[in-house]
Amino acid sequence: MTSPNPDWKPGQKIEAPGGDLISFSPAEKDVASIYKFLIGSVVPRPIAFVSTISKDGVSNLAPFSFFNALSSNPPCVMISISARPGGEYKDTLRNIEETKEFVVNSANRWLLEPLVHCAAEYPYGVSEFEKAGLTAIASEKVKPQRVKESAVQLECELYQTVKIGDGSPGSSTLVIGKIVMFHVLDRIYQDGKINLEELKPIARLGGVNYCSVGEIFGIPIPKV
Ligand SMILES: Cc1cc2nc3c(=O)[nH]c(=O)nc-3n(C[C@H](O)[C@H](O)[C@H](O)COP(=O)(O)O)c2cc1C
Repeated sequence: MTSPNPDWKPGQKIEAPGGDLISFSPAEKDVASIYKFLIGSVVPRPIAFVSTISKDGVSNLAPFSFFNALSSNPPCVMISISARPGGEYKDTLRNIEETKEFVVNSANRWLLEPLVHCAAEYPYGVSEFEKAGLTAIASEKVKPQRVKESAVQLECELYQTVKIGDGSPGSSTLVIGKIVMFHVLDRIYQDGKINLEELKPIARLGGVNYCSVGEIFGIPIPKV
């Protein structure tokens, strides 16, 4: 599809649908409002469907949309795991700190309902794989299992954690994982490229809303 303003020339002013601004500092808002603002404005967010395992061998599965790729050498991804309202760790973080491993499974359109189901607060020691009806398959280099139904699976070793905040509600732990093994359905990976039509990624918006990929604009970065 052509880009939104294909006739635009460097330096040319654009017409933006502006208006009056509302401005505020974080100190003026409570944590819940700040969270709402962030998840409504930083959109769409890709989703990592993260599988981990406890030191007792129980699998855990949960979605995280504070997620992105960080680097390709070494290949790294990050997720950010917030503290529970009482300050306790989520099971995913507890497992990652104990075992230093996790798997990022892709969030594909066909997985949306079971993926959201896995965000329910099952007690520690309950496997969301079973609750959601998903198939756990062994990983090659790490102990946490992979989600067979995901089109892409990234086996990760813990690279680094960064604490953000003091553990009170709204604070988080940034978890960086180094990818040690990639898996992708062969019908989706052709000539070294991911086929987006087949991948059918879904992303998180504000509230309880999700989206899939809409318009796609092909526009190369110019040489100057
Ligand atoms: C699509 C989606 C994205 C989410 N993203 C995050 C996130 O980025 N960080 C986070 O701490 N919780 C996030 N959550 C909430 C967790 O999935 C939820 O707290 C879950 O129960 C954690 O599971 P665990 O205790 O098994 O680790 C998200 C929930 C959904 C449905």
